[in-house]
Amino acid sequence: MAKPRRGDTLDLTIDDLAFGGEGVGRVEGYVLFVRGAVPGDRVRVKVVEARSRFGRAAIESLESPSPDRVEAPCPYFGRCGGCRLQHLSYPAQLAFKEKQVRDCLTRIGGLGPFELRPILGAPDIYGYRNKMEFTIVRGGVDKPAIGLHQADRYDVVLDIERCLLQSETMNGLLDELRVQAGARRLPVYDQASGDGLLRFATLREGRRTAEAMVNIVAAAPAVEALTPVAEGLRTRVPSVASVVLNVNAKKASVAVGSEEHLLLGRDHIRESLGGLTFQVSANSFFQTNTVQAERLFAVVEAACELEGHETLLDLYSGTGAISLLLARRSRWVYGVEVSAAAIADAVRNARANGIENCTFLPGEVRYVLPTLMRDGVRPEVVVADPPRAGFHPKALHALATLGPARLVYVSCNPATLARDVGDLVRQGYRLEWVEPVDMFPQTPHIEAVARLRRAQ
Ligand SMILES: C[S@@+](CC[C@H](N)C(=O)[O-])C[C@H]1O[C@@H](n2cnc3c(N)ncnc32)[C@H](O)[C@@H]1O
Repeated sequence: MAKPRRGDTLDLTIDDLAFGGEGVGRVEGYVLFVRGAVPGDRVRVKVVEARSRFGRAAIESLESPSPDRVEAPCPYFGRCGGCRLQHLSYPAQLAFKEKQVRDCLTRIGGLGPFELRPILGAPDIYGYRNKMEFTIVRGGVDKPAIGLHQADRYDVVLDIERCLLQSETMNGLLDELRVQAGARRLPVYDQASGDGLLRFATLREGRRTAEAMVNIVAAAPAVEALTPVAEGLRTRVPSVASVVLNVNAKKASVAVGSEEHLLLGRDHIRESLGGLTFQVSANSFFQTNTVQAERLFAVVEAACELEGHETLLDLYSGTGAISLLLARRSRWVYGVEVSAAAIADAVRNARANGIENCTFLPGEVRYVLPTLMRDGVRPEVVVADPPRAGFHPKALHALATLGPARLVYVSCNPATLARDVGDLVRQGYRLEWVEPVDMFPQTPHIEAVARLRRAQ
């Protein structure tokens, strides 16, 4: 059969899931990506795009469903860009993620043999997020629409009544924000003209403390107009401990402001994790799944094999969660982080928890590592939790030169994990084991911990 053409209708068996969660079917080796299809489905599809090496197709009818297919519980599923795997049973989601990690490490990293430990599934597969960022747009007559972007349509926002990834308290808060903003007829920002006020709302919740935070991102420092909204929110939802206003007067459609005003309560909420209490402010990074983050960090801690006398280096330390948790089992911990705000949070969190054996160093890993080496710091153990892009080549080279005995790599991107671990193995490390941890059920995001040891 010739390569399918745009507009062709054909029958397809889905045999895999792609990185982003689309089904993969093949016609004589030619790959078709099919959104909404899962492995094991037999579907009739229409080809909507036919490139030379792969194409895309849309489901016309589901001829025979996969045994792993389940009913997606969310009414926005398929339209909302939030979760893409709700139609796949949880065990099949876990198997998919485990396979992605294995495939990346062997294909991209050229790695093997190593132990791939079973993926650590999440106990809560819905309602697990402690932070959600919503966009505010003009809605009905009396209320703004507040919700999430439609999949692949950055200009369309779905007015979300209930998001199944956050708790019912947060859903109540989301609804109340709509009511309060509507009752006061606050103008919503218009991206095209730049007129209006309200732009985004980020909701956060300390899952262990039940403290809630609302961060309203607006186009102007309208403290007077927004304070009654904050008061209304606290009256209706008593767990609200913090309402802040971040001002973004620029065109860029981002939920980050250039200045912050406190509207009500404290400028942060608290969350407890691993026996420590963290202060989380509106612009702080904090792991979004508290329960699974605790389990992820337990895997990291076990991987470090600390006896108490070690110097530990925590690269890409963020607000210091890993540093502070491991400080209890180390002689001294150095955290390295580029964001000054995150460093300030880490220092504040160390103080609040009475931890005195941590030093947080601001700067990029590739510049800070050589300085540390020049200063004679020789850590036995290095933990690294880089962003999706993984290590900068110079940072990786500096790490291999530093040559710690044990290396624990926490990754949110199996492709860059594979690339970096492949490099480290070529520079004298052995990959011992990898354990994926599911931090984000219903989404294709994959987290994994890799343990490497310097070959003698
Ligand atoms: C995945 S987060 C780490 C989170 C941290 N382990 C925690 O749980 O709080 C990655 C961090 O790397 C930081 N970062 C990004 N590029 C960096 C660089 N070149 N050097 C140092 N830090 C960097 C980001 O600001 C972010 O805080």
